[in-house]
Amino acid sequence: MKTIIEPFKIKSVEPLRFTTRKEREAILTKAGFNLFNIHADDVLIDLLTDSGTSAMSAKQWGGMIEGDEAYAGSKSFYRLEKTVKDLTGFRHIIPTHQGRAAEKILFNIMGGEGKVVPNNTHFDTTRANVEISGSEALDLPVPEGLDPCIKRDFKGNMDLDALESFIRKEGPKRIPLVMLTVTNNSNAGQPVSMENIRQTSDLCRTHGIPFFLDACRFAENAFFIKIREPGYRQTSIRKIAQEMFSYADGCTMSGKKDGLVNMGGFLAVNDDKLAQKARNILVVTEGFPTYGGLAGHDLEAFAQGLDEVLQEDYLKYRIRSVVYLGEKLNKLGVPIFQPPGGHAIYLDAKAFLPHVPAREYPGQAMTCEIYLVGGIRACEIGSVMFGKTDPESGDFKPARLEMVRLAIPRRVYTQSHIDYVVECIGEVFQRRESLKGVRIVYEPPVLRHFTAIFEPL
Ligand code: F0G
Repeated sequence: MKTIIEPFKIKSVEPLRFTTRKEREAILTKAGFNLFNIHADDVLIDLLTDSGTSAMSAKQWGGMIEGDEAYAGSKSFYRLEKTVKDLTGFRHIIPTHQGRAAEKILFNIMGGEGKVVPNNTHFDTTRANVEISGSEALDLPVPEGLDPCIKRDFKGNMDLDALESFIRKEGPKRIPLVMLTVTNNSNAGQPVSMENIRQTSDLCRTHGIPFFLDACRFAENAFFIKIREPGYRQTSIRKIAQEMFSYADGCTMSGKKDGLVNMGGFLAVNDDKLAQKARNILVVTEGFPTYGGLAGHDLEAFAQGLDEVLQEDYLKYRIRSVVYLGEKLNKLGVPIFQPPGGHAIYLDAKAFLPHVPAREYPGQAMTCEIYLVGGIRACEIGSVMFGKTDPESGDFKPARLEMVRLAIPRRVYTQSHIDYVVECIGEVFQRRESLKGVRIVYEPPVLRHFTAIFEPL
């Protein structure tokens, strides 16, 4: 088989700024050893997130000029609405500025005190929006999903036995909805099978519980179904995606991932009453229902992005380019979460730095060293993000996994950029025994990973 190449050529470039290790040491110290505090032009290869970092196509940029900026009834809204309706089949499409705005509206209406929202794994903004409404966010991933070493096709799946026994124990009244995140970002971007989506949906229907998808990376998930799940090889990605959505009563979507745009999202639902309530909140917090916090040109680019993301050439290249990074790291013996996910490679920080205990944040120490070695920005997804320290007793509760995410922006970096990333991580891996942990010197009360300040030990 020949090399799978980028299915595009480059029309416009953005120069990178090179820094020396000495400069990076000063930058990192000033940033309190937190990569979120670094100016982006002090970063050479930015793998902090795949969210809002996509390169848009010439057609999307063309659409930016054509975007209709009417306050009410924008032509661009109707294009997006049609695109999303064709794709998802949902009756009501409510645009929002990004995914978390859709979550906020949904849980504002459906959440509340005493309720519990199960998910295969909540992303942190979803969890925060569930919790802020007064409900509990419950993660029910399949057990193999939590083991970085096991290679399975659909490690992002919901644990259906656990979900069923939870519903039987609590009764459906306390469960306003069940959510499935596709792909499962907080579980290393692992996909969810069609069978699991269907069975989760069946279980919810049996108990009269609404079922929602967190659909940020629906196209990547659909591609995994195509290549891994029996019976889908000959089915188009669009058809697979349509089937995924057909099992749900609605979805939240961050267009910043598989929408291939820098900003945008939506809430989509079938229930008329729910839609009406959502639009009432939307007008107050986001904007009129035909723009919902977005400019007309954003709506236009988003509609175009949702068509482009379904192109098979694109998805083949996309998933292959992530696997490529994973394979190269495997060859060097670098421990990664297996198998590679859809949008990122997750380094297994516990196995990478076995001598650094969770309370010394091995993942954070790795992000610092990866930056110092190569100017590469990665993201800790471990005890900084999900661990908790009791402010009074000082008791520490670690996260389930200690990981460092190398998220790959869509259509942005080439193979040689990724080769460089492999070389730098290889260098950090060789010197791993000399690496030390970090400690937190400041942390805010919520979402501490964004603004915490650290000190090397
Ligand atoms: N759901 C999932 C699964 C996500 O990964 C994200 C964002 C959101 C919801 C929220 O969407 O950012 O548009 O408000 N994930 C980004 C990331 C931030 O880096 O993984 P948003």
